[in-house]
Amino acid sequence: MIKFAVLGYGVVGSGVVELFYKNKKSIEKHAGCEMDIKYIVDIRDFPDSPYKDKFTKDFSDVLNDPEISVVAECMGGTEPAFTFVKSALDSGKSVATSNKELVAAKGDILLESARKQNCNFFFEASVGGAIPIIRPLHRCLAANDINAVAGILNGTTNFILTKMYTEGMAFSEALELAQNLGYAEKDPTADVEGHDACRKICIISSLVFGKHVYPENVYTKGISEIELCDVASADVLGHSVKLVASVKRIGDGRILPVVMPMLVPHENIMSGVSDVFNAVLVYGDGIDKTMFYGRGAGKLPTASAVLGDVIEASKHNVTVFSQTWTSSEDRSFIAPVDELSAKWYFRIPADSACDVEDSYCDENGRSFITKENLTFAQAKKTAEELNASAFMPVLGE
Ligand code: HSE
Repeated sequence: MIKFAVLGYGVVGSGVVELFYKNKKSIEKHAGCEMDIKYIVDIRDFPDSPYKDKFTKDFSDVLNDPEISVVAECMGGTEPAFTFVKSALDSGKSVATSNKELVAAKGDILLESARKQNCNFFFEASVGGAIPIIRPLHRCLAANDINAVAGILNGTTNFILTKMYTEGMAFSEALELAQNLGYAEKDPTADVEGHDACRKICIISSLVFGKHVYPENVYTKGISEIELCDVASADVLGHSVKLVASVKRIGDGRILPVVMPMLVPHENIMSGVSDVFNAVLVYGDGIDKTMFYGRGAGKLPTASAVLGDVIEASKHNVTVFSQTWTSSEDRSFIAPVDELSAKWYFRIPADSACDVEDSYCDENGRSFITKENLTFAQAKKTAEELNASAFMPVLGE
């Protein structure tokens, strides 16, 4: 019998409990043993919950209970999550987490703790919600040299951009709707300004390239400056506007991770990824490219990934070594955004004397896409020279 604890009874934690009891029999079949939730840790009171006997406010009940072999962490934030997760791992209890902030900031330390105790720190739910991506990257695709990953990794912003595009909905109204549906972070600034997507591309980059990539080293720009007219003119020019998180290995072996709103050509499969859905495109020498697609946020989709990890943790009594990376004091393997090379979208004043082919003009200005690649540094300078009110890269192949 595997007994596990759930830390945090918010959107994701309550989803873990709900889905576990809904599918308990088949979950046990997959785990190969009986399972039950012994504790739910939350500082709030839930007197009407059918699980009220399982609640505790004291994490040490979990830590000091030798019957608990797996902990599902769904609290979010770095503290007290880090302290709880580290002490659980240090005492040999495996952890499954949905907490991308924790993994992006402290994944290297927690993986090391798990290794020392021969248990596991799993985080499938931290990237892409329901989408299996962490395990495929280090298992199913392990035969490849993966050289790039690009994804729509934030459900809230994709939902907002979709509503702006399909319904002409105002930004603030679409955000409120996303919050009501349980997609957004506690502080939606993390979604809107790209920090959530940044944490997720850090996790992917660390896993794929083997060294911890910290959020502060990744150029991150969100969608708060995107205007309806950019979404509309991008469409006329044959593109969708998406918040893209990407990483690629550049010529000299360094990697270039970024999070930015980008124009995605309509013929690129990611252009049609709408609402709360996420997609991750993985480029490797064996596979060419493979796309993973699914619900990127929400209660049961995220709970599905957490429980998948709880089941995995129940089956493994040794550390899964393929899912790892090392700390990185020296960050010189990360190239600066100035080196990002792409075609660029510009929106410039309608009466600009600049002579460009294939531009689209309306009352909001003239929009066009460059024929040639420019680096970010060059595009920024051009935007200043042309007095552009918006400029964004176009996602390449
Ligand atoms: N706020 C996140 C999103 C939740 O919108 O994608 C899932 O990580």
